Amino acid sequence: MYSDKVMDHFQNPRNVGEIQNASGVGTVGNAKCGDIMRIYFDIDDNQIIKDVKFKTFGCGAAVATSSMATELVKGKSVQEALEITNKAVMEALDGLPPVKVHCSLLAEEAIHAALWDYAEKNGIKIEGLKKPKSDIGEEEIEEDY
Ligand code: FES
Repeated sequence: MYSDKVMDHFQNPRNVGEIQNASGVGTVGNAKCGDIMRIYFDIDDNQIIKDVKFKTFGCGAAVATSSMATELVKGKSVQEALEITNKAVMEALDGLPPVKVHCSLLAEEAIHAALWDYAEKNGIKIEGLKKPKSDIGEEEIEEDY
């Protein structure tokens, strides 16, 4: 049911932990399944994500997608990080079963929430970034899948 990559990132998640005095922290959850994901960014003066950590209290797919999402954003600019979608995270993991798509949305939204926090703390505007939701509802994922 799960790809080898999903299993690998679930069993050996990358970038687990937290960052003290993080440049931005984003926490999102899904009220339906009760899973919660938090992402921490360390962003330098050139708006490059130097380090990223996450903590996920959730299912295996949520752990795997947050692990892969942190790998994808590391070393990227905030603008590039904003463009990483849940689809990109799923592709990087060689896919997820349809019932687990919402887990990858949690990762995308956690990135946005951390970027939003960073922008607010620094009084800057990130082009194209909308105020993130803290609860990812099921209804938002139906159109694409
Ligand atoms: Fe909800 Fe995976 S079951 S995040």
